[in-house]
Amino acid sequence: MKLRVEDMAIAFDGKQILNGVNFQVQEGEFVAIIGPSGCGKSTILNILAGVLACDRGNVFVDDQLITSISSHFAYMPQSDLLLPWKTILQNVTLYGSVHNDKKKAEERALKEFKVFGLDGYQYAYPHQLSGGMRQRAAFLRTALCSADILLLDEPFGALDVITRNEMQDWLLNLRKELGCTTLLVTHDIDEALYLADRILILSKSPATISEEISVAGIQKTRDWLFSQGELKKEIYQRLKGEQNA
Ligand SMILES: Nc1ncnc2c1ncn2[C@@H]1O[C@H](COP(=O)(O)OP(=O)(O)OP(=O)(O)O)[C@@H](O)[C@H]1O
Ligand SMILES: [Mg+2]
Repeated sequence: MKLRVEDMAIAFDGKQILNGVNFQVQEGEFVAIIGPSGCGKSTILNILAGVLACDRGNVFVDDQLITSISSHFAYMPQSDLLLPWKTILQNVTLYGSVHNDKKKAEERALKEFKVFGLDGYQYAYPHQLSGGMRQRAAFLRTALCSADILLLDEPFGALDVITRNEMQDWLLNLRKELGCTTLLVTHDIDEALYLADRILILSKSPATISEEISVAGIQKTRDWLFSQGELKKEIYQRLKGEQNA
């Protein structure tokens, strides 16, 4: 088992937000977390990334207990901004330059620009890129962390529907190449169904995992997604039920 979360709990200012969250992610598996707004989805990723300490519970990677910031995780937070005064190359190698050799980080990054649809924009500044390209650059920065588990918090949330669909197609393909274990937080039922092997539905806070839906082993296409009306309805009703509970 790649990642195991046991009994994760946290309260802020006396209000219980997470209360016994348990789940596992297998090596190479893509798991999506959906749940009502404010239920604690980003908080789970913040705890895994080591930004926050939980009050109770344990996190294991490869059966080893994780107690602080761990190089196993690469985190793309909900509001991942590129630094406007740095070029795209400088932005995507930011973490590599801090932790390793700057030249090596740049060499590695330059190889990936084409795969990430950013070829020719190495020395451009963020304002010269479209919204989708900026997201891909933020994504490349996360992917270059050499971690084995990607934590993505609504990576395409700010995009229009066409660009978002393009990014999802791109991620579905990229996934085959990277083979990373991925935990994705999203509001978008279609996105969860299209990208994930398994969907975890969080209850409203104090949150626990209320439902788990497997959509693994399916050749995912847009046509498949369009034909999943019943499943989408079921997930929507569960989410709505949680929101109104
Ligand atoms: N560092 C913090 N200090 C105090 N309260 C916090 C902190 N982080 C999160 N919270 C609170 O915990 C709750 C859950 O926040 P979180 O950001 O995890 O929700 P979310 O499910 O990601 O929401 P959204 O879907 O809107 O992104 C919210 O009420 C938020 O105000
Ligand atoms: Mg959030």
